[in-house]
Amino acid sequence: MSSPYVHGYALGELQRLQDQASTLIDLLHADTSYPAGAKVLEVGCGVGAQTVTLAARSPNAQFTSIDRSTVSLARAQAAVAARGLSNVVFEHADILNLRFARQSFDHVFLCFVLEHLARPQDALAALKSILKRNGTITVIEGDHGSACFHPDSDFARKAIGCQVILQARAGGDAMIGRRLYPLLVEADFSAPQVSPRMVYVDASRPQLVDGFTRKTFNAMVEGVRDDAIAHGLIDEATWDQGLRDLHRTTEPDGVFCYTFFKAVATT
Ligand SMILES: C[S@@+](CC[C@H](N)C(=O)[O-])C[C@H]1O[C@@H](n2cnc3c(N)ncnc32)[C@H](O)[C@@H]1O
Repeated sequence: MSSPYVHGYALGELQRLQDQASTLIDLLHADTSYPAGAKVLEVGCGVGAQTVTLAARSPNAQFTSIDRSTVSLARAQAAVAARGLSNVVFEHADILNLRFARQSFDHVFLCFVLEHLARPQDALAALKSILKRNGTITVIEGDHGSACFHPDSDFARKAIGCQVILQARAGGDAMIGRRLYPLLVEADFSAPQVSPRMVYVDASRPQLVDGFTRKTFNAMVEGVRDDAIAHGLIDEATWDQGLRDLHRTTEPDGVFCYTFFKAVATT
């Protein structure tokens, strides 16, 4: 049985995934492209925020993008159609119950998905079996333990900690970025290469202040407010101060840093 999904599927969250992807395109995608004719499986495509970039950057590769949410798949399909991309097919599927034949894909790509799984090693093992020999897997994940900011604030750290605890209770790991190498080794992939990708934001980069700090990171933490308070993880006053302090980092003298981890390994 799959675990619940901590971010949910409300419209605000779906928009947050779009903001996150468009802000981070160069940082996360610049070194990913697939050759003509390659068959690529994108796992947990969500609303298609990464799909549109993948498909546009590798116009002659054939993508199959799967997700367990039909709501997200419909939006992903619309996003791909709106860009006039014709190299993607979508399927409703659960990573832990894949029906593809063994060795049916040249490459697998997944972004911000393993963090939601109770046993990411099982997902990686399943994905390895549907990859051809010498196929590649590309995995991108964040790590909330990497967030650092100025002015520093214990309140803000407590608010972020609520997200980490709630995600763990849902069976996931919001700090999975640092585990990509050992997970890929455990799943028997060869030669994993992991590269940290830091987003550094200060007032000289207003697009990142808005697109990343405000609309991606802070919006994600804000999304767990009600659950965090209802579960007694934090009181309302501490939460409100934490969020004020997170937003304080978007002011002219504020700084925010976060590190994503991108891994590429072969079968
Ligand atoms: C944080 S979203 C990321 C979406 C997209 N990859 C992106 O980067 O914008 C995680 C996605 O994984 C999907 N997901 C989570 N568990 C899954 C599972 N067991 N099988 C298929 N999809 C799953 C969710 O439905 C959600 O759309």
